[in-house]
Amino acid sequence: MATLLAFVNVFMLFSSTLLIFHVHFTLSVNTTMKVKPLKFKLHHPETVFYTPNATIEDRGDRLLKASINRLYYLSARAGGGDPEYDALAGLVTSRELGRDGFFVDFSIGDPPVSQFALMDTGSDLVWVDCLTGFDPSESRTFAQYPCLADCNNGCSSTNGCMLQIGYVGGFSAGGVIAREKFTFQSSREGDTIVNDVVFGCFRKFSKTNKILPGIFGLGDLRTEFSIVKKMGSKFSYCLGNIYDESYIYNQLRLGEGTFLEGMETPLSNYVGVYHVDFEGISLGETRLDIDPNLFKRGTSSLRTGVAIDTGSHLSWFVPMAFKTIRSEVAKLIDQEFKVRRRYEEELWELCYFGDLALDFQSFPHMKFHLANGAYLDLDSSSLFYQKQTRVFCLGIGPSNEIRYHNFSLIGLMAQQKHNIAYDLTGKKLYIQKINCSLLDED
Ligand SMILES: *[C@@H]1O[C@H](CO)[C@@H](O)[C@H](O)[C@H]1NC(C)=O
Ligand SMILES: *[C@@H]1O[C@H](CO)[C@@H](O)[C@H](O)[C@H]1NC(C)=O
Ligand SMILES: *[C@@H]1O[C@H](CO)[C@@H](O)[C@H](O)[C@H]1NC(C)=O
Repeated sequence: MATLLAFVNVFMLFSSTLLIFHVHFTLSVNTTMKVKPLKFKLHHPETVFYTPNATIEDRGDRLLKASINRLYYLSARAGGGDPEYDALAGLVTSRELGRDGFFVDFSIGDPPVSQFALMDTGSDLVWVDCLTGFDPSESRTFAQYPCLADCNNGCSSTNGCMLQIGYVGGFSAGGVIAREKFTFQSSREGDTIVNDVVFGCFRKFSKTNKILPGIFGLGDLRTEFSIVKKMGSKFSYCLGNIYDESYIYNQLRLGEGTFLEGMETPLSNYVGVYHVDFEGISLGETRLDIDPNLFKRGTSSLRTGVAIDTGSHLSWFVPMAFKTIRSEVAKLIDQEFKVRRRYEEELWELCYFGDLALDFQSFPHMKFHLANGAYLDLDSSSLFYQKQTRVFCLGIGPSNEIRYHNFSLIGLMAQQKHNIAYDLTGKKLYIQKINCSLLDED
């Protein structure tokens, strides 16, 4: 327990994400129950946090900051918790974080109360706001979680299992771990009820301007808190153009309904962070000259290798790889496209004057090559983002924005227009380039 508490002190929550590593569970629950396939809509952040006067500039700025924060968070997590990150990440924390992901809606309790929560592969727990969003005393199905788990903020017969999570910049959230009836609505299948879902019912937020309604954690740390494990250790998500608010086919599937199709590639999990075996990058027909060892996961060093994540829009690569990507993209633009280079705000950025949708449709695709021949296929809308009304930038950055140089991260922009499926038991990731509307026809 002493060790546990020591770790609890370095718990950090970066950019609105949960860290519950180093909490070891001894409770054994039968998690193999069969349930109906779960398939539900993912809501665009703009439809959840409607901000009438938000400009492209606001969004561009927010996306960049949130992506940098996420890089800190995941690399800290992949490193098993490092207190130095607190100070580092505090520098880039903003209130806007967590607002650019995709949201799941569901209801909890009996009578059911509807909730929104951010889908997050970098969190292991589902938590909701029990201060303003859900009142457990009004529910007939709310049940405490027994004190058998290592609850980091104590456990008592009155409150049950208590958990406290630290955010960067002094932010924290906490409350009880409990069990509830969850109801998922789907237009086609009707309601699906899952009983006894373990979740965090959080009431204590260190700042009143709380940014998130809740988190829907899809991480896998072999804890009894995981909804993914309860549903059979499989899930998939499919996103269209993530900047298109009107695209209605974004979806998440859990358990038996998971769409496991397409190219398959090994998936691993290190300290709760999903990693892939990354082999290289091509631009158009040209394979970029990048040493594949830069993407390898070192045997001795944590924070190496390439993670795949839903919390960063941008992708981040080790500096040596990034240098090559940046210069090859710039060369191609200089040779083929008549757009003017712009002075970048960050030294590493690559930005141009122009309108992505108008001037840049024909840009050659970039491919991220993974083991076994699988790849992500990035067209111009997955490679660049409109940062200002008349400025677009490359959606890739160097991971030496953090001190741990050898960690890379595949962000959401690179994954859009694909169905991405995680089979945690088979340790495989499935990738299929698809218009998500086609998945609704099965
Ligand atoms: C949005 O802009 C309008 C008109 O400029 C202004 O009246 C309104 O207060 C603004 N709303 C917010 C939330 O900033
Ligand atoms: C990153 O990788 C390089 C080359 O393999 C190695 O020399 C260096 O020590 C590594 N850096 C860190 C911070 O692990
Ligand atoms: C995806 O399919 C929908 C429905 O058929 C269609 O309206 C939309 O234009 C398609 N999107 C793309 C990018 O092809």
